Amino acid sequence: MAKPSILFEPFQIKSMKLKNRIGLAPMLNMPGVWTSFSITDETIAWFEARARGGAGLIMTGSFVPLMVALPGWKERFAKLAEVMHSHGARLGVQLAMGGPMTGTGPSLPPYPNELDAKQAIMDLLEMGSGLLAPAEPHALSVEEIKAHVKAFADAAAILKEAGVDCVELHCAHGGATLCCSFISPFYNRRDDQYGGSWENRLRFPTDTLKRMREAVGEDYPLLVRISADELLGDKGITIDDTTRYIVPALEKAGADCIDVSQGSIVHSPEGIEIPLYYPRGCFIHLAEAVKKVTRLPVIGVGRIVDLEMAEDFLQEGKADLIYMGRQLTADPETPKKYLEGRPEDVRKCVACVEGCGTPCSINYEMAPNAIPLTPAQTPRRVLVIGGGVAGMEAARVAAQRGHRVTLIEKRSELGGMVAALALEPLTAEFGNLIKYLTVQLEKLGVEVMLSRDAGLAEVDELNPDVVITATGSSMMIPEVAKGKPGVMDHIEALKRRKEIGHRVVVWGLAYGAELAISLAAEGREVVLIGEGSEKTLGGHASNFRRWWVLRKLADINPARGTPEAQRLTNPKVLSNVRVKEITSEGIALTDEGGHPQVLPYDVLIISRGRKPNNALPAQLQERGTEVHEIGDCASIGDIQKAISRANEVARVI
Ligand SMILES: Cc1cc2nc3c(=O)[nH]c(=O)nc-3n(C[C@H](O)[C@H](O)[C@H](O)COP(=O)(O)O)c2cc1C
Repeated sequence: MAKPSILFEPFQIKSMKLKNRIGLAPMLNMPGVWTSFSITDETIAWFEARARGGAGLIMTGSFVPLMVALPGWKERFAKLAEVMHSHGARLGVQLAMGGPMTGTGPSLPPYPNELDAKQAIMDLLEMGSGLLAPAEPHALSVEEIKAHVKAFADAAAILKEAGVDCVELHCAHGGATLCCSFISPFYNRRDDQYGGSWENRLRFPTDTLKRMREAVGEDYPLLVRISADELLGDKGITIDDTTRYIVPALEKAGADCIDVSQGSIVHSPEGIEIPLYYPRGCFIHLAEAVKKVTRLPVIGVGRIVDLEMAEDFLQEGKADLIYMGRQLTADPETPKKYLEGRPEDVRKCVACVEGCGTPCSINYEMAPNAIPLTPAQTPRRVLVIGGGVAGMEAARVAAQRGHRVTLIEKRSELGGMVAALALEPLTAEFGNLIKYLTVQLEKLGVEVMLSRDAGLAEVDELNPDVVITATGSSMMIPEVAKGKPGVMDHIEALKRRKEIGHRVVVWGLAYGAELAISLAAEGREVVLIGEGSEKTLGGHASNFRRWWVLRKLADINPARGTPEAQRLTNPKVLSNVRVKEITSEGIALTDEGGHPQVLPYDVLIISRGRKPNNALPAQLQERGTEVHEIGDCASIGDIQKAISRANEVARVI
């Protein structure tokens, strides 16, 4: 790093000495815990990889206090602590009790009111129905509240005894946690001593902190995670409320460190599972604001994927410690690679929120039952045909195992479809993966041949022992649009963006939605059309991405929430259409009600299905060549599928 680094300087919170200022953010993607309902060897190995990778603080995802008190759990926490300590890391455990919106499925009634229910866009997505059926929330009795306070204090004491170095009380993410639901004006509808005024709404978390303090003693670090802004406008917690009421109260009640998050599960999850549309470090300003009103150390978090940015935030006084969540999922060795002066080897998170560890799109190691990476028994000459992410990943892994690898790509650059998506400002983070793979191929000595079409003759000439085909897919153009002026497929549109005129029609509600939003933001007049219903908008992506897309496009609660909740009028969405013909006048279609209309256009972008380019693998197979198909040419899929299949092949050949 060019500047003097404070990120790698030690930091102390009460009795806890951290070797650096990088922490693993609490995440519920810990393997084993929920499937086996215990801290399994697999769980410990997962955390160990992050500790070995150099993070100074390893914070677990949420544990419910009563779980901690179950027989046998203390011993497992002790084992986890011992393993973390063996790598010089400190272990924290996050404690949380679920709130009224705990589930990730459809948000549950009762809602504060009808409009709030509508704002629960997850319902529109109809995600998880039937998967999660958490109990309907009820107003806790005072006895129940006191029992929860005691449970938190008991759990903290057990964790301290187990050798866990600190405990974080989860008071963030709105309806996800009991503590935040009490604090939040949006969720807390009580009219007793736990509702109404700030003092009353803060009573539950501050009582809890005080009891935890009594249980663990003065010198034991108690961290508190807050949603400094619930992103619910004036209806929820605002940063002003946080700096004025919440932080001072928590400090007074005995908090030793404030971890600054944002958002509320279900209603505004973009603070929790933040998609790639948001810039890196997008809510560090909240940590900065908190730091101004407290003497306590403050943790900054949120889309921080490179340690230069983390270092800048510390140097600028915006935070004292940095949490990284998904980045350490995508590459647990991020701190180590920086320390060793090889930041180019870091596999940067693309923020696709397509699994986040269960598994991770770009880190195959996160897959359940991942095939171990072992040196090749007999090094072979491997020819990879196609330089998209599947081909690049297969080449990387095969070369890492000791095979001699050649990669042929017919275009003049690597990256295929994903590289094209990285040209789109909204999905530019996909470029991280291409950069990473390009550097690794070079370092591993993979011979890359660009602008070379690989047919049977080339395969004969190169004479490999094994061929991996990653020849990708082509976008399907509907018959009615073939040969018509101004027609481009989605990938062409990304590459020839400057040629796209003012009036644009994007055909394809799923893949096309992001592009339509982006082209409209650049000032073009865009209509997004498709045969499906509005529920298919952004349907190719995870629900956390779709949530954002729907907020931009669908008819949801335009009157409230953050400015982003305002529905865009451009692009205009026409769902349930039937395209009849395309003439010089425009696109003739019938709308939802069967009414005909003609959409004039300068450019029509087709963003529908893809078909595999699988002629070559079939020919090779016929000749008896050992050939393995990966990526879209094997089966159309997303990045996760491409990376996963590439590893399944490259780890066994
Ligand atoms: C899969 C997943 C699980 C999460 N679980 C928790 C959790 O248990 N407790 C919590 O406070 N935050 C949780 N978060 C939020 C993260 O701690 C973190 O604040 C968020 O991912 C933003 O940081 P990042 O961009 O570095 O990942 C979770 C996030 C993800 C992606």
